[in-house]
Amino acid sequence: MSNPGILIDIRGVDRVYYDTTGRKTEALQNVNLQIRKGELISFIGPSGCGKTTLLRLIAGLDAPQAGQLLLNESPVEKPGFERGYVFQQGALFPWKTVEENIAIGLIARNVYKEKKPLVKQYIDMIGLTGFEKAYPHEISGGMAQRVAIARALINEPKVLLLDEPLGALDAFTRIDLQNTIRKIWKNTRTTIVLVTHDVDEAIYLSDRIVIMTARPGKINEIIEVKLKPERDRNDDEFIILRRRVLEKLHLAGMHIPSRLVDPVELINVLGLGEAI
Ligand SMILES: Nc1ncnc2c1ncn2[C@@H]1O[C@H](COP(=O)(O)OP(=O)(O)OP(=O)(O)O)[C@@H](O)[C@H]1O
Ligand SMILES: [Mg+2]
Repeated sequence: MSNPGILIDIRGVDRVYYDTTGRKTEALQNVNLQIRKGELISFIGPSGCGKTTLLRLIAGLDAPQAGQLLLNESPVEKPGFERGYVFQQGALFPWKTVEENIAIGLIARNVYKEKKPLVKQYIDMIGLTGFEKAYPHEISGGMAQRVAIARALINEPKVLLLDEPLGALDAFTRIDLQNTIRKIWKNTRTTIVLVTHDVDEAIYLSDRIVIMTARPGKINEIIEVKLKPERDRNDDEFIILRRRVLEKLHLAGMHIPSRLVDPVELINVLGLGEAI
């Protein structure tokens, strides 16, 4: 049955992997989730519970063995511009400047001429004015993640998929970027799906937190974050919620990031095809 408030409908999704010795890993088992239009939803859970797998299925970088994923009621079959994807390590093109990295989606879509002003607009939004001509090796890790987020946003996606975008950053930079993500979300009202292992980050940013468990990867619980829009990490309600999420997770602090960016997938999510 259709529901106009739902952007992404994940129904009975299984994803199994076999390694070279034939050993089976049930990365996701019977996952059901409806992502609402305009919400910011986080996936949190121990390393290996299938967070990246689920995000990649939504992105169309991978396909389930059972079940289906619908975006606005149409099956997800491959990556598309209406889904912006930010890899954990940013994955910028090192030979391109900040503004060239951000403009790449416009060039790939053949709309650079008419949409060029958007480059400056997104550089402003992510706070990188003055660094337009810098190369990736000349900017910090936090700045690189800002560029990766702007590169995804410039295509004005219906959903922004963020795979631990702040995971490799120091605590201070991370808080700064959390505020940027919140500002972007408020300004654009884009639906955001955020994978994180940081409980405070999930509570600070989300409308809902999806807690996952490992082997087989499943949704354990979905927590609605009913805090006021201006959030304070030291608020009593924040602290109570933090305790509740940590209790559910058991495994706080046991995170090991696992995935490197495959350049072919980067080209696919950016829709570059033969363009480079
Ligand atoms: N291409 C693959 N081939 C084989 N197994 C895989 C593959 N990708 C993921 N897996 C396995 O599937 C499970 C889920 O992996 P996934 O990367 O989705 O976890 P995750 O929750 O994102 O973990 P992390 O927090 O460490 O990033 C893991 O056990 C992983 O080893
Ligand atoms: Mg992951």
